[in-house]
Amino acid sequence: MAPAYAQTKLVDFDQKSLFISACSIAFNPLFWNIVARQEYHNKVLTKLFGGRSQTACYGLAATIFSIGIVRDLLYERALRHQPSHPLLDSDLVTYIGYALLACGNILVISSTWALGITGTFLGDYFGILMDDIVTGFPFNVTDAPMYYGSTMSFLGSALVYSKPAGILLTGWVLLVYLVALRFENPFTAEIYAKRERERAAGKKEGKKQR
Ligand SMILES: *[C@@H]1O[C@H](CO)[C@@H](O)[C@H](O)[C@H]1NC(C)=O
Repeated sequence: MAPAYAQTKLVDFDQKSLFISACSIAFNPLFWNIVARQEYHNKVLTKLFGGRSQTACYGLAATIFSIGIVRDLLYERALRHQPSHPLLDSDLVTYIGYALLACGNILVISSTWALGITGTFLGDYFGILMDDIVTGFPFNVTDAPMYYGSTMSFLGSALVYSKPAGILLTGWVLLVYLVALRFENPFTAEIYAKRERERAAGKKEGKKQR
């Protein structure tokens, strides 16, 4: 006789909550990239906040933070509707899950701490640039602690709840973030390169006048 779990599905694709969670995972980076580029090119948010870039950036930060909470709730709801798998239902897997949750949160929180609110939430698109590239922890461990930390937390929850569907959604999270990074990194690099060019031009100008 086959073991009982051979009959349980790994992932129940009949659950709408699974697709809703997948949509919200993809929606968030899409949302902040579209909005931030609108800000960069047309100052949309700064205009909305009466010309105050700093306040506008805090407004975007609060919005991104809120849709992040919604995404996490939709993920947890999706996991509740999914079957558990006996192979994931062991103490060891649960401990690994908690360790991933802890490490993921450390990466996210320390990265926010190192960058500040405007540095974390796309301040560069508002013209609020960091003075220097942050190289200390967690940026000496990974170049995108926010994204990899978040991915680790998704995987941690999947393991704690013993849900294969959570592992699948975590793969989706990672894919979405990797695409976002390929889209965001060259853009922010160009914002800083532009400042360097302007600084260099400023220095030349200064020398000529002397
Ligand atoms: C990263 O920097 C921290 C201190 O800022 C240090 O304790 C840690 O060992 C560094 N890690 C790596 C991998 O270099």
